[in-house]
Amino acid sequence: EGDVYKFYADGHWRLSSSGNISYVYNPTVAGKQAYKITACSKDEVNQAFQSAKAAQKIWAKTPLYKRAEMLHKVAEIMRKNKGPIAECLVKEVAKPAKDSVTEVVRSADLLSYTAEGIRILSEGKFLFSDSFPGNPRNKLCLASKAPLGVILAIPPFNYPVNLTCSKIGPALIAGNAVVVKPPTQGSVSTLHMMHCFHLAGFPKGLLSCVPIKASELGDYVTTHPLVNCISFTGGCDTGMSISKKAGMVPLQMELGGKDAMIVLEDGDIELAATNIIKGGFSFSGQRCTAVKVVLVMESVADKLVSSVNAKVAKLKVGPPENNCDIVPVVTEASANFIEGLVTDAKAKNAKLCQAKFSRQEWKRQGNLIWPLLIDNVTTDMRIAWEEPFGPVIPVMRIKTPEEGVKHCNSSKYGLQGCVFTSDINKAMLLSDAMESGTIQINSAPARGPDHFPFQGIRESGVGSQGVTNSINLMTKIKTTVLNLP
Ligand code: G3P
Repeated sequence: EGDVYKFYADGHWRLSSSGNISYVYNPTVAGKQAYKITACSKDEVNQAFQSAKAAQKIWAKTPLYKRAEMLHKVAEIMRKNKGPIAECLVKEVAKPAKDSVTEVVRSADLLSYTAEGIRILSEGKFLFSDSFPGNPRNKLCLASKAPLGVILAIPPFNYPVNLTCSKIGPALIAGNAVVVKPPTQGSVSTLHMMHCFHLAGFPKGLLSCVPIKASELGDYVTTHPLVNCISFTGGCDTGMSISKKAGMVPLQMELGGKDAMIVLEDGDIELAATNIIKGGFSFSGQRCTAVKVVLVMESVADKLVSSVNAKVAKLKVGPPENNCDIVPVVTEASANFIEGLVTDAKAKNAKLCQAKFSRQEWKRQGNLIWPLLIDNVTTDMRIAWEEPFGPVIPVMRIKTPEEGVKHCNSSKYGLQGCVFTSDINKAMLLSDAMESGTIQINSAPARGPDHFPFQGIRESGVGSQGVTNSINLMTKIKTTVLNLP
């Protein structure tokens, strides 16, 4: 504390010559500054892109196995330094201490796994011309994967380490350079994590991390002419605005969701309840894959709601340092937004389940919002459609599975969904009918394991993630055609 965190570019840590500073607040203690960070100037950002471009040319020619070795090396350094990185996560995004360590280890594992991407990159294709009508067998086409150039990575506050590594790893193994624009809440964790890459000895300029004031330089960064691909995870509005201005570069965007859980009459109700707790309330619901609306068949709704309520009553609410289940949400603005959704639902006669627990009345203290299940939600309520990104879960009672599918498909989002049933045929039919990037059967939505494809439709995003898909997205097909006499 007191010191100003530096930015990373050209292999060096520096304070911005602009003298500008951004403040990171501790979500747990109202108004308390956790860190101060230097905010880069336009020239410094531009320089980071120029250096990235130059370094990338050399990196692309570095043998694949050496690139892989470097990723294994940084993964090892990250594992050794999981403690201090996790401490930053606790302090600046209020992630529970244990989960913070898990995030760092998961990131190291992701980088090691990504190193194995050399297999995908070392394979190409070989085609003869004579399978297309009218062509003799005189042309040989050799297709391989080439890097795109400079990848702009913009991770979100909720996984500043893991969702930075999920962009950097695939980019680097494929021969690209990366410029990271860290989230303000989460930037110190990102900078610490970047230091692991620095210690691993990646070439100067290949990687940089440039904190900026997004309101001033956001457009400059995302429309910079040296950007060859943008990988963004964050809010829908920002994602939309970036994609409108981005121009002709590949986009990988994950922009949130209204992940629906459909519970059928033959579903395991206990299992569904456990998954609502884990899938809906962990990290206070601040995950784009959190369960964000429960659509339950009328006949089993009471059973499900009372089981969830009993479990909610056992959740520990408090600071992340104590590994509480429910922790403060990231900003006061976010807490206000969540409270607004609750107030709207209450005014329209939804039932706030926790209001009946005498010792756990639903309440809010600063950024800390007590977990809440809202029953009898109807389509006229904002919470039926909007993404709270908080520990508040709406329950809508449905008469038919089709009603659940209709609600799911009417959402502007389409990231993930899940179905609880003991009938595999129903599960497959519903999965087919639900228009979302992924449908989980008998488990809550989740991105991992990190090599699984992960994608959203509609306003949930474009492009697919997961290690293999990211490597593919961050490369282009290059062909050489050999014309025989
Ligand atoms: O909110 C970001 C999203 O990628 C969630 O990941 O692992 O919590 O399902 P996960």
